[in-house]
Amino acid sequence: MPTPLSGLVFLGLPLLAAVAAPLGSQAESRPAEESSRPGIYSCVPDHPWELVHRALWVRTEPDGKEHGVDDLDPLLWPQSRYLLEEPAFSRAVSALDAFLATNAERLFPDPLKRVVLQRDLWAIFDWLASVSRESEPRAAELAKQIARAMRRVALSSEEIRSLPHNYDAAVASGAFPPGPTAGERSEPFLGPGLLDLDGSWVRLAQEGPEPLAPSHLHHVDGRSLFLVCLRLPGGREATVQYLRKLRDFPEPLVHEGERRRLNPSLPQFPPGTAVALLRRTLAIDDQGRLTTTPVTESVQVRLFRSIENPAPEFGCDGELFPFQEVFEFDLSRERLFAGVAGGLRAVGREEKRFARLGTHGNDPLERPFFPGQERGFPLLQRCGSCHAQPGIFSVNSFTRISTGPGTILDVEAREVPRRLHPAEPRFPEGYDFRWKEGRASFGYLRGLWAALPR
Ligand code: HEC
Repeated sequence: MPTPLSGLVFLGLPLLAAVAAPLGSQAESRPAEESSRPGIYSCVPDHPWELVHRALWVRTEPDGKEHGVDDLDPLLWPQSRYLLEEPAFSRAVSALDAFLATNAERLFPDPLKRVVLQRDLWAIFDWLASVSRESEPRAAELAKQIARAMRRVALSSEEIRSLPHNYDAAVASGAFPPGPTAGERSEPFLGPGLLDLDGSWVRLAQEGPEPLAPSHLHHVDGRSLFLVCLRLPGGREATVQYLRKLRDFPEPLVHEGERRRLNPSLPQFPPGTAVALLRRTLAIDDQGRLTTTPVTESVQVRLFRSIENPAPEFGCDGELFPFQEVFEFDLSRERLFAGVAGGLRAVGREEKRFARLGTHGNDPLERPFFPGQERGFPLLQRCGSCHAQPGIFSVNSFTRISTGPGTILDVEAREVPRRLHPAEPRFPEGYDFRWKEGRASFGYLRGLWAALPR
């Protein structure tokens, strides 16, 4: 019989110490080496939650250097071998075994911790689901343990509905200015109203069932939902009118011989316009149903200082400033659990990260493609590789062109741009789970969820 661990051991003083530990200022650069940080769930190093988190989330190099402790997404790429090889594989199996055998889910009734652990486990599960189970039996073994742990920490639909709206908490905390700040470059700002349906931001919807952010949806295998918002400096009415003009434009594509390009005369928005992409986590409730949650995982913002075309001099990566200012706010478990600024932190201007979206799929820690890749690059300097075009031509959810340095007007447009409307006020009730439900990884999870012992 498994013996439930005493919660006291793990919920005592060390946890308070972790909460009281300095959290650093938002825009501060994070050191690549994070081993001196307190734990995420507990600073007791062998706390079962902590062991699971570390075994699955933290990448340790042979020299002991650690990466990814509080990263939003796991450090796993399509070609990674990390979790399938020793010693990482056995470490992960024993951490999960210990978690399950001791009913460690009971140690933290806190719904926030449970929903976050579930999303993290789910990300690892989906990565394992993409590995061939025939040639990699270890992937199947680990996936089973993870599915069981996910089910153990699942919340009821009532508990999920009552989770805090951390975006609103971040805005209310006053930790970030509500709009662009004066000076040559703005501080990262996080305004109220991104989620309001009558505020100055207009949330976008498109005609037809196709998702508005397919690249991002694919990238996270549908575990998050994405909202795209637009705001012209003239406010809501001006934004709605601009969208109408864009929709009514008769010829969004022009033909040049065999090739089709975006029409350079498409209506342009004025400088001062901003676009935002908000990502929220989904969860699986204790009945095995997919559900939305109020937990914002990240917000990306691009503010157009000018709509000139920086692209001709633009290489593959680089600064979009002074044409656009770019910001990203990521969920930090550490800040979230400590109740600091809704858990959101602004990514520092020089903060290095490993690229996730739009990579070759190689694992930079195992097999870097080019010199320096194993150390990561400033995240905010990567935005230019997919958003360097002037104004509306850089709004990829409109153009459907996902990438392309150089001027986008030179890129062949395979499809017509989207027809964008202001979204209906149904969110999140109207969220369509079919995309995720249709994924092979979800079918696999659902099968295990139903078949395995709790
Ligand atoms: C590898 C390509 C790529 C990189 C790098 C990238 N994005 Fe995007 N981004 C996209 C695509 C593609 C979309 C459209 C939605 C989709 O298909 O998922 C998008 C959408 C957005 C949107 C919503 C408005 C729009 O353009 O549709 C914002 C805001 C945004 N990105 C900000 C950023 C910021 C800030 C960075 C840098 C931290 C960044 N992006 C880096 C590809 C990229």
